[in-house]
Amino acid sequence: MEIIKLLIVDDEPGIRSGITRVLRDFSVSYPFMDEPCGFEITEACTGEEAIDSVNNNLPDIVLLDNKLPGIQGIEVLEYINRNHLDIVVVMITSYASLEIAVKATKNGAFDFIPKPFTPQELRSSMETITKQVYFRRITKKLNTAGKQIRFQFLSVLSHELKAPLNAIEGYLKMLQEKQFGDNVVDYNHIVDRSLERIKGMRSLIMDLLDLTKIESGTSTRNIVELNLINIAQTSIDTMKPFAIQRDVDLYLNSHNALLFKCDANEIEIIFNNLISNAIKYNKEGGRVDCFIKEKDDCYIISISDSGIGMTEEEMEKLFNDFVRIKNIKTKNISGSGLGLSIVKKIVDSYNGDVTVTSIPDKGSTFTITLPKN
Ligand SMILES: Nc1ncnc2c1ncn2[C@@H]1O[C@H](COP(=O)(O)OP(=O)(O)OP(=O)(O)O)[C@@H](O)[C@H]1O
Ligand SMILES: [Mg+2]
Repeated sequence: MEIIKLLIVDDEPGIRSGITRVLRDFSVSYPFMDEPCGFEITEACTGEEAIDSVNNNLPDIVLLDNKLPGIQGIEVLEYINRNHLDIVVVMITSYASLEIAVKATKNGAFDFIPKPFTPQELRSSMETITKQVYFRRITKKLNTAGKQIRFQFLSVLSHELKAPLNAIEGYLKMLQEKQFGDNVVDYNHIVDRSLERIKGMRSLIMDLLDLTKIESGTSTRNIVELNLINIAQTSIDTMKPFAIQRDVDLYLNSHNALLFKCDANEIEIIFNNLISNAIKYNKEGGRVDCFIKEKDDCYIISISDSGIGMTEEEMEKLFNDFVRIKNIKTKNISGSGLGLSIVKKIVDSYNGDVTVTSIPDKGSTFTITLPKN
């Protein structure tokens, strides 16, 4: 049972005990709730007492009578608003003071229950109010989860940037202290290594920019009908020098135009990442095959390589941020571990799906399904 804290504020003891009696054993459940919500009830007979109670034991819901002996219900509501307390306030008022109730809802009260009410009326109002509390709780949980994820993301990121920075700093110090003598040429290898580390940082930063654009939804998408084959060809052309350097052959095995409404940049990012991985995690003399097919209402893109492959266990986390597989085969291959998580995010934004099959030392196939609509 999920507990909802309820504070009843009314100067008439009969009303307080009546509400308590109706709600004490009552619970609210909706199909989207994991478990039903029950009430933990506290009572207050004045506005002052209500404020004390709110401060001591923050309720989720306040059922608030307006006409009270000391300060009025409306003032309690104002107090709650002023202090930004996360409480759903519901006014209980007689028909005669309906105007006040309407004013209260304008001032942030969630709703009002007119007096007198039947137990059934009270229960049905409580169902709606509880639903509201439930949604607020879920949103809050999601927000804290988001913060945690951001924190994790930033710690990994700073770690990833710190390593190359330390390396470059070390190389520069060697230069400064002229550790290899006065001849500039003797420092070539140090300069090369520094440039290599800078390249790594740049590609990490570019990946991050892609990622944040996708996640924040601020990348201005330009959705037009495009031929997927052309996008694949562009990406293959871009990757060609890298493939030659690694002695890997690239093949595009589909040729018939396949028109898809999409953003060219986004689809190119998908191809670039999958093809660069297929080259990077390949073997000398290996190959990469790219197929694009139409099946029912979808396009299916698959990129296969004859590379180092992965075990089942290694494949599981692949699409999360900063995941890199660490083993002897990948020891000397650099990367940030963001490529596939970017691919996944883009594919998700097209309501598509990405899967992988792989056999260690034989190769891997990444398959992307994109629904046409
Ligand atoms: N085709 C593949 N064959 C074998 N392993 C792969 C393949 N593609 C990806 N991987 C593994 O999955 C990990 C995550 O890939 P991902 O593309 O996300 O990151 P990366 O290549 O390490 O870095 P980045 O792409 O950001 O430069 C890689 O480190 C690698 O171990
Ligand atoms: Mg990659």
